[in-house]
Amino acid sequence: MAETQRNPVLLGPSILTADFLHLGAQLADAEAAGIDFVHLDVMDGRFVPNITFGLPIIEAVRRATALPLDVHLMIVEPERYVADVIAAGADIVTVQVETCGHLHRTLQQIREAGATASVTMNPGTPLGTIEEVLPFVGQVLVMSVNPGFGGQQFIPSMLDKIRRLRAMLDERNPACRLEVDGGIKSSNVRRALDAGVDMVVAGSAIFNAEHPVVECVAEIRAAMGGPNR
Ligand code: DX5
Ligand code: ZN
Repeated sequence: MAETQRNPVLLGPSILTADFLHLGAQLADAEAAGIDFVHLDVMDGRFVPNITFGLPIIEAVRRATALPLDVHLMIVEPERYVADVIAAGADIVTVQVETCGHLHRTLQQIREAGATASVTMNPGTPLGTIEEVLPFVGQVLVMSVNPGFGGQQFIPSMLDKIRRLRAMLDERNPACRLEVDGGIKSSNVRRALDAGVDMVVAGSAIFNAEHPVVECVAEIRAAMGGPNR
């Protein structure tokens, strides 16, 4: 039997650990290095302990790049902000299942506002919580750290969760993107790809004080090389 057609694998930086005073230059460097999308982590100090940024930064990044903006909402009551986030320039909106009392409705709201609907869950939240909405999303994100901060360690048991989710998607929504976010570096990205992801977020491995962005992107890209599965 022929292999299922796979999406090309995409890489995007999370701007969480970027130098916000020079965000435009940092993004230009990452874009020149060949990233495919930009991941923006919106945190409210309630769902997660940290507070990051909101609409003005999404709008500013929108003006700075034509790449797809992948907005990860770590906020309570995301349905209150979805329309504004999409108006600010988001192409993909990810909501945390833990924050959604009416998950199906919130995903529908994202689609109706013209963006790709995406759902994610904390490392400790079972895949069963998103099973019913798999036919209605264009992307699922597996959090491989507990959301809230950049620079945390990848949780290895999330590889098995990715494998199980890949199998569920192959059955119910094969075109759906499977993204991984948290603790990804050149040393572990290949394992995530082998487990079945086709979208990779890397924060501190791309924006950090130690190495130039261009080198960091090149190193992860090199580690991603080879066949996708
Ligand atoms: C965690 C965020 C991630 C994070 C990625 O709450 O959702 O996007 O910033 O950063 P690294 O790659 O440093 O774990
Ligand atoms: Zn994120």
